[in-house]
Amino acid sequence: MKAKPRSLLGIEPLDSRQILEILSLAKRMNPARPRTTLRGRRIALLFYENSTRTRTSFEIAAKSLGASTVVIHATTASIEKGESLKDTGKTLQSIVDAIVMRHPSSGAPVLLSKLIDIPIINAGDGMHAHPSQALLDAFTILNHKKNLKGLKIVTIGDIFHSRVARSDAHLFSKLGARVVFCGPDVLLPEVARELAPGVEIVREMDEAIRGADVVMMLRVQQERLSGMQINVDEYIRRYQLTPAKLKLAKRDAIVMHPGPMIRGMEMTDEVADCEQSVVLEQVLNGVKVRMAILATVLGGKR
Ligand code: NCD
Repeated sequence: MKAKPRSLLGIEPLDSRQILEILSLAKRMNPARPRTTLRGRRIALLFYENSTRTRTSFEIAAKSLGASTVVIHATTASIEKGESLKDTGKTLQSIVDAIVMRHPSSGAPVLLSKLIDIPIINAGDGMHAHPSQALLDAFTILNHKKNLKGLKIVTIGDIFHSRVARSDAHLFSKLGARVVFCGPDVLLPEVARELAPGVEIVREMDEAIRGADVVMMLRVQQERLSGMQINVDEYIRRYQLTPAKLKLAKRDAIVMHPGPMIRGMEMTDEVADCEQSVVLEQVLNGVKVRMAILATVLGGKR
């Protein structure tokens, strides 16, 4: 039987050894020093949803490995004419070697991976998963901390709509961190507890942040709120990261954000630009980690 190609659909199927292998490969990757690992390979970036960081960094990563890329935006392709996901996938399969895919529906990449035979890399699906972001977040933490074991990692904000929070929770707990979620009831339902083994829910930001090693801030995903009422002033008062709140975390705590960051909402300018903020470092690490992902998925023999 032909072996199924390797895909990266989520963090759950990976064990800690596989995660650490990708992260250690990422350490050796540098977009300023292009490689030929994927010379002659073609990668489609199939984006049904907007993206700045993820799409550009996958594209730079693919090119830095010698692959060629084709970017397909849902609005400019036949997709707009009503072509089904299956037909789009089958069409691409005959001309490319892998698909990096973002889709507003949770599970779309999993579905496509069952319909076609080339690797699919999930670049974010609905509220479900964003595995490459979780890997780059862990990579960034490991640039500042020896390992994740025992670290208190608190994620604050719109957990409910966040595929980043979900994939991060799986990955961080696999590597032994203590994962704490904090946010208002509507954006952090009790079910979030079931997301990953041992996730703790703390409603008060001061308590959540106290003694944290990593503070991850999330955007309120206005485009997905559909009818949920958020009082912005109240949200800012209770959940915005200010210099005073950050003082409650460990002195060497780092501040992270997957982007896009709405300054003045989830954090103040002062915090966004402070020494503890590693937000821009996350972006650069995103390219390295995505190089490692593409090399892992597509590297080796054809
Ligand atoms: C996130 C996403 O799209 O899931 N951003 C990203 O990929 N860097 C988070 C968000 O949109 O708020």
